[in-house]
Amino acid sequence: MNQDQEFFSMPRIGDAAPEFKAVTTQGDINFPADYKGDWVILFSHPADFTPVCTSEFMTFATMQDQFAEANCKLVGLSIDGLYSHIAWLRSIKEKIEYKGMKEVEVTFPLIEDISMNVAKKYGMIQPNEDTTKAVRAVFFIDPKGIIRAIIYYPLSLGRNFDELYRVIIALQAADEFGIATPADWQPGDDVIIGPAGSCGTAKDRMEDQELDCKEWYFCTKKLDKDLVLDTILKKK
Ligand code: BEZ
Repeated sequence: MNQDQEFFSMPRIGDAAPEFKAVTTQGDINFPADYKGDWVILFSHPADFTPVCTSEFMTFATMQDQFAEANCKLVGLSIDGLYSHIAWLRSIKEKIEYKGMKEVEVTFPLIEDISMNVAKKYGMIQPNEDTTKAVRAVFFIDPKGIIRAIIYYPLSLGRNFDELYRVIIALQAADEFGIATPADWQPGDDVIIGPAGSCGTAKDRMEDQELDCKEWYFCTKKLDKDLVLDTILKKK
């Protein structure tokens, strides 16, 4: 395998999440088997003891309960060792105050990946960005262990965690209600029904009083916010 193949092989949407066993700050994990039945966000960060990553971990840890209510567990990774991880997480809890967050304890697992075994499997090393640090990759993995969405950010750009939460809710809403979600969708906004597959369906849709069809291929319908949130959050 040449360097390109080694670093550029990455799983795609719809693939089974690559399997691995790893040491983490919360003990050993067997991924994704240990997370069967839960949604998981597996995410990488470039390095411990760096400012953007610190702001991200504090934000994610503060939102952990919100993600848990949406049936979603968090698993982090960087190409650092376990003792570095432990020292960094202790420093965050003991010393860092940022945007009203303080004494933040990171209780989700943080994988040590000095061998880059996991980072390579998930295409988290992008050599033209950095050969020894993982970029800010985010994999959304469903309860069956299938990758459902992927977002990548460069080293310099901290992630928007409200967006990651929106993705988790939107993916589950699509599964539960058989709909798609338009740009910037939030629970309570109208949702999109799949494209008409025949001339007859197109005509029916245009005449359906419960739909709002801008054109035969672009029809929306109401989906109650409480129904969406109750359905997703009650599953816990
Ligand atoms: C940071 O998290 O602050 C960071 C890490 C690697 C490169 C640039 C910034």
